[in-house]
Amino acid sequence: MAELSGRLAGKIAIITGAAKGLGEADARMFVREGARVILTDVDRENGERVAAELGERAEFRYHDVRQNAEWAALVDDVVARHGRLDILVNNAGVVTLGDIETQTEADYRFIMAVSADATFFGCQHAVRVMKDNNGGSGGGSIVNMASIASVQGESAVAAYCAAKGAVEALTRAVAVHCAQQGYGIRCNSVHPAGILTPMVIEVGRQAALLRGPDAAQSGPLAKLGEPDDIAYTVLFLASDESKFINGAAIRVDDAKSVIAGNA
Ligand SMILES: NC(=O)c1ccc[n+]([C@@H]2O[C@H](COP(=O)([O-])OP(=O)(O)OC[C@H]3O[C@@H](n4cnc5c(N)ncnc54)[C@H](O)[C@@H]3O)[C@@H](O)[C@H]2O)c1
Repeated sequence: MAELSGRLAGKIAIITGAAKGLGEADARMFVREGARVILTDVDRENGERVAAELGERAEFRYHDVRQNAEWAALVDDVVARHGRLDILVNNAGVVTLGDIETQTEADYRFIMAVSADATFFGCQHAVRVMKDNNGGSGGGSIVNMASIASVQGESAVAAYCAAKGAVEALTRAVAVHCAQQGYGIRCNSVHPAGILTPMVIEVGRQAALLRGPDAAQSGPLAKLGEPDDIAYTVLFLASDESKFINGAAIRVDDAKSVIAGNA
């Protein structure tokens, strides 16, 4: 890791799903860049461990992103204790394999709740408090974790595509609303291809169980990115360096979603 330089100095950030994977990488980079980070997750053990490793500018809070009431309590508590909220990364997400014929209703509702519903709740509560930042003139950055599943047909994860499509579309609606209202709040989505995290290892395992070991190598486990490939992008969008970027959907995918025949 290169020497970093305080690009988020003094910022207060919430990152959901920060106990492992991409959220953990975001949290580590944010703290190194000077932010105070509230890591939230339903995985208490790993969340508390990562926060402890990050030191005094990190804290863990148990938070199930599906619960709107927990969002209200979290955001109000952060503002009460730290004075404001500058950055929200709606990162928590889940995936299970299933095409449009095989995905169960239970899996569909689970995936939509963790990605789509929760991102809606998170944006709503963040806008509610961020518009009061800076003495009432407003300000803040919301980064929503989508996927290239929202821009290409990934038949093996139908509900996941629906959820990430909702995240992408909601991002634009939030961005435009905040611009129209003059809140100074930006909202952008990040669209990774496969990155080596516990989620992708588990999907690869499921694919191998269903279709044999070759499926894992040719599917999501083929040529993966690193968590910091995403964290650097999230850092940029969270920082004031990207102050003129609002409503954007940024693909971080080594061209996978635009190479003909690669879907
Ligand atoms: N890894 C990839 O290849 C990839 C690609 C595209 C998009 N994404 C997206 O990036 C985000 C992070 O993915 P990851 O690969 O790090 O996944 P991961 O499974 O490794 O980590 C996700 C974290 O979210 C937490 N989580 C799950 N349900 C939750 C809930 N209800 N409330 C709070 N926390 C919850 C998990 O406990 C876990 O710590 C997800 O939104 C995912 O869809 C990942």
